[in-house]
Amino acid sequence: MTYCVGVTGGIGSGKSSAAALFAELGAGIIDTDDIAHELTRPGGLAMPAITAAFGTGIVAADGSLDRAAMRKRVFNEPAQRKVLEAILHPLIRAEARDRAVRSTAPYVMLVVPLLLETGGYQDLVRRVLVIDCDESDQIRRTMQRSGLTEEAVRAIMVAQLPRQQRLDRADDVLRNDADIARLRSQVAPLHDRYLKLAVAAQNPQ
Ligand SMILES: Nc1ncnc2c1ncn2[C@@H]1O[C@H](COP(=O)(O)OP(=O)(O)OP(=O)(O)O)[C@@H](O)[C@H]1O
Ligand SMILES: [Mg+2]
Repeated sequence: MTYCVGVTGGIGSGKSSAAALFAELGAGIIDTDDIAHELTRPGGLAMPAITAAFGTGIVAADGSLDRAAMRKRVFNEPAQRKVLEAILHPLIRAEARDRAVRSTAPYVMLVVPLLLETGGYQDLVRRVLVIDCDESDQIRRTMQRSGLTEEAVRAIMVAQLPRQQRLDRADDVLRNDADIARLRSQVAPLHDRYLKLAVAAQNPQ
């Protein structure tokens, strides 16, 4: 089992950007959002169960999950959302674990947006890295990238852990409040630390 660092942070905080910088230095990346997409593409492993639970109305013409239709079905419907999560989350976890086992990288960054909210990765994640920035940066970056309104971004943020609670549970924090060069300069020393921790974990005293 490859040493796993769990990477989390609020929407638009810079999780993917930070993980990519670690990967430049040789870390592996396992991104649970990517896995969720793969599970719900045409022929995806989650599609039979999702179709059985929600009907063909949430299947796009190509056989993939119709994300817009699914969003409508679970919007303000916590019970429905739970049904979807009960299908997806175990499959995502199993695939993440599989990739961690198979990885040949010295350690992997396991990117899980709701790592601290949903749990379920305690057995895999040896250390928690939180990507942190001001709410105003989060909102601006997410709006720029996704075209969501400020109201829509805030609605997503409300469902996530408050910033201080997330920070309280971090082993390491990357402040992403300046440019990417500044983020990169913080990544290098952490990468060295993770290499050492991964080696130590493989050679217990
Ligand atoms: N330090 C930075 N300076 C400028 N732009 C940044 C910085 N960090 C991230 N961004 C940009 O902000 C957006 C969000 O960053 P990123 O996708 O890394 O965040 P994320 O936490 O993975 O978001 P999500 O929760 O949606 O997966 C991207 O368009 C990214 O290029
Ligand atoms: Mg991301």
